[in-house]
Amino acid sequence: HRTRVAIIGAGPAGLVLSHMLTRQGIDCTVLERRSRGYVESRLRAGVLEQNTVELIRELGLNAHMDRDGLEHHGIYLQHDGQRFHIPMTELCGRSVTVYGQTELTRDLIAARLESGGALHFEAEVEGVHDPDSDHPAISYRFDGEEHRLECDFIIGCDGFHGPCRNAIPEHRQRLFDNHYPYGWLGILARVPPSTDELIYAAHRDGFAMHSMRSPEISRLYLQVTHDDHPDNWSDDRIWEALEARLGTPGWTLQRGPILDRSITPMRSFVAETMQYGRLFLAGDSAHIVPPTGAKGLNLAIADIRVLGDALIAHYLDDDEHPLKDYNARVLWRVWRANAFSNFMTGLLHNAPEENPYEHQLRMSRIDYLHRSTAAATALAENYTGMPFDASQ
Ligand code: FAD
Ligand code: DHB
Repeated sequence: HRTRVAIIGAGPAGLVLSHMLTRQGIDCTVLERRSRGYVESRLRAGVLEQNTVELIRELGLNAHMDRDGLEHHGIYLQHDGQRFHIPMTELCGRSVTVYGQTELTRDLIAARLESGGALHFEAEVEGVHDPDSDHPAISYRFDGEEHRLECDFIIGCDGFHGPCRNAIPEHRQRLFDNHYPYGWLGILARVPPSTDELIYAAHRDGFAMHSMRSPEISRLYLQVTHDDHPDNWSDDRIWEALEARLGTPGWTLQRGPILDRSITPMRSFVAETMQYGRLFLAGDSAHIVPPTGAKGLNLAIADIRVLGDALIAHYLDDDEHPLKDYNARVLWRVWRANAFSNFMTGLLHNAPEENPYEHQLRMSRIDYLHRSTAAATALAENYTGMPFDASQ
């Protein structure tokens, strides 16, 4: 077979790219190793930057997001049981929308299949061939058989564990990796959120966060050690820890049945070479950030906006420059998201080796965000996402 653009991975990055290209009449094929059911039920991120929301609207895929998404104009930060509000929209004119990655993925898949666009599940890419030539190809396994797909471009939207990153020769790549000595235990609970906006709380026992998915469903997280296991956490232990860490005078946390629980390890990772010949990486295949800044999904979509426009310029305007500049045009945002995610993570988590002096410094840094409009504005513009026109 042959396609113009072979997209590997049906996560948010691959799916959004397929919509951008198809809308301009550019033929593309998406291959995904997992089943549709698996991809659609994976519980992950929940906060969409304004940039992400705007792109989904431009693509006309916003019906469910506009109906069910919750636009938030601020967040709460908390330390030592004192909670304060960061009024993001007031500070930087931008907002975020709480809408689950699970829901967004379902919308993107349904729209792709309805429009008749090529999207194959349970098709696992096993080989990336000749990415540095003008006739790249991939081989994949589907229905127990080997297939080969010739293409103009290979786009690796195949997440952290996918094969595309490794198709770039080591001597052309620069990798950066950082592990954190803790993880997040995340739960989904059938109970109305006990807050109107997200709460990020630093506490002596560790970080906790209160997020949500809908007016009926809450999403909450607890800092745990990186080697902890969900089986160590009974429902009662989870709710007691959340109450202790999120508690403030006069506020109560509503409990409800826990529908899902899992532990996510925390790491930062950057592959600086996101282009090699006719192979391009986007999203988690090139970079991972710890979840505290809510950047992972948004950074994946930011890569795709730049890459999608560059591919469109190649096919529609015969302009090669945007594709050549892809790496340089996305890398500053990759590092900004890394710096912000690392800042938020360090600010709000108890490192096991933290000494009392360092603890007080950390509390002072949180307190400063309460006292200083300048500090709060810097947080707000990073959290809501720096606009595209100012940077690209
Ligand atoms: P992915 O969504 O990972 O998609 C990659 C796809 O490629 C997958 O569907 C995979 O099956 C497919 N694939 C891999 N190999 C192959 C192959 N050989 N052939 C074909 N297909 C292949 N971010 C936040 O902001 N907040 C959060 O709370 C948060 N929680 C997370 C929890 C977990 C457990 C994980 C793993 C991530 C979380 N993230 C979170 C990060 C966020 O979900 C990702 O940044 C986002 O999914 C990136 O999208 P993507 O399309 O680049 O990659
Ligand atoms: C959610 C996840 C995050 O990483 C974050 O910073 C905020 C919210 C969520 O899953 O709702």
